[in-house]
Amino acid sequence: MFAEKAIDQTDKAEFYRELAGQLSALLEGESDAIANAANTSALIFQMMPDLNWAGFYFLYSEDELVVGPFQGKPACVRIPVGRGVCGSAVAQGSSILVEDVQAFPGHIACDAASRSELVVPLLHEGRILGVLDLDSPLPGRFDGVDQAGVESLAAIYTSACSWDE
Ligand code: SME
Repeated sequence: MFAEKAIDQTDKAEFYRELAGQLSALLEGESDAIANAANTSALIFQMMPDLNWAGFYFLYSEDELVVGPFQGKPACVRIPVGRGVCGSAVAQGSSILVEDVQAFPGHIACDAASRSELVVPLLHEGRILGVLDLDSPLPGRFDGVDQAGVESLAAIYTSACSWDE
């Protein structure tokens, strides 16, 4: 059984280094992308304070994201590339940090409680496979340290998984 360990929140960069270590241990020896997405979203939701949604959207075709494993309220299933925060992150090929979702044009509200959002693309050999999406009920919940930390978690996830068709 994997036992997650509470991590001190005082130093956020250190928090993400420890969380990255726990994620690597959790995914070790498993390459199934769905199984690993399920456990990654569960670990993130359990360990990161002030989240109301944490999960994956996958790019199975060029123009549309489809929801994958997540923790939180039921979510929109399909998001066209270029729409919402998730589709915009895919279109621009980089992370998007939204301090106030109400000020983001085209934000798709899956849970009315969400106030801020961080979306990180899943990158593998120059390809975007989908996104890791975190929502918070607090405005301005995420900063640059969170972005770098969650990007490192996404990289651990993508490199643990097998992406061969
Ligand atoms: N807010 C996202 C939609 C996904 S949910 O937050 C789970 C967006 O604007 O793309």
